[in-house]
Amino acid sequence: MRKGILAVAMTGLMAVTGLAACAEDAQPADSKTPFVGVILPDSKSSARWETADRKYLEEAFKAANVKYDIQNAQGDKTQFQSIADQMITKGVTVLVIVNLDSGTGKAVLDKAAAQGIPTIDYDRLTLGGNAKYYVSFDNVAVGRLQGEGLVKCLTEKGAKNPAIAQLNGSPTDNNATLFKEGGVSVLKPKYDAKEYTLVDDQAVPDWDNAQGGVLFEQMLTKANGKIDGVLAANDGLGNAAISILKKNKLNGKVPVTGQDATVQGLQNILLGDQCMTVYKAVKKEATATAELAIALAKGETKSVSQTTKDSETGKDVPSVLLEPQAIYFANVKDVVTDGYVTKAELCTADFAAKCTEAGIS
Ligand code: BGC
Repeated sequence: MRKGILAVAMTGLMAVTGLAACAEDAQPADSKTPFVGVILPDSKSSARWETADRKYLEEAFKAANVKYDIQNAQGDKTQFQSIADQMITKGVTVLVIVNLDSGTGKAVLDKAAAQGIPTIDYDRLTLGGNAKYYVSFDNVAVGRLQGEGLVKCLTEKGAKNPAIAQLNGSPTDNNATLFKEGGVSVLKPKYDAKEYTLVDDQAVPDWDNAQGGVLFEQMLTKANGKIDGVLAANDGLGNAAISILKKNKLNGKVPVTGQDATVQGLQNILLGDQCMTVYKAVKKEATATAELAIALAKGETKSVSQTTKDSETGKDVPSVLLEPQAIYFANVKDVVTDGYVTKAELCTADFAAKCTEAGIS
């Protein structure tokens, strides 16, 4: 009977139609009941983890009537390990992680594997790990969109030989390496041709937004205030740079990139303080992950069409890699139309006029 319900729910999963189901009411785990554990990384490096990933993963598991437990390690690597231990003890039949770094992520993946629990790397690849699947976006493409966005905004401003600062993501996040690779693939030819000048390039440990602000202020001081464009790896770091630019009355004059289409990032774009963001349809990422997790939890394997090379093991990890989208003032409305942020969240009093101007109705 339960199996029948599950089969029906699985079929409807892609549509996320919300079959009447409640994970909390699900039967206690036994060795045959699918039970998915998910560990999110933190809630400060980006708003997405709690506002989007948790929400869409929950929706997908509920729609499939599958028991789940989603927890957030709040940036604490010890906490990450103990959540994993608890989940293993509670009997999860599949474990999905967003690692805080590859080393501690691998320790968790190895522990799960030792217990016969299959794993999925969600959003971030764990280098040297052994996850059955990796579900993310084309992260080099994310960086490329940021690089192209910066060039577009600098060109529109008529910048001549602009001085560029690069504010990269965490050195321990493989995604940050890929974002930078994509961004630099666009900017390096301009540096080499002496069209642009790279004045500073720093990675922000753990994507810490406050530290990003401190680093950017140091960059600006060192450059005697002469920074004309900022390749910032996500909206949080972009906002940190914008805060410093505001202090120096440079906001709006210096294009800043971002990523994640957060409410704050989109509002910065509406005000003209941020050049662009990269929208990643997290609903698709969460839905694809839930589908694979449920298959694994039932002892099945699904074939996927892409692979990603783990640079440490040299192995090809079966992958689902989705396409990111660049967002500028003109298409901020696409993010609202897609349901990722609501008009009510975005178009608060201070932004109402800009929202109208941007065609958000
Ligand atoms: C994610 C980004 C996020 C960043 C900080 C990256 O791994 O892909 O979406 O902004 O982590 O949380």
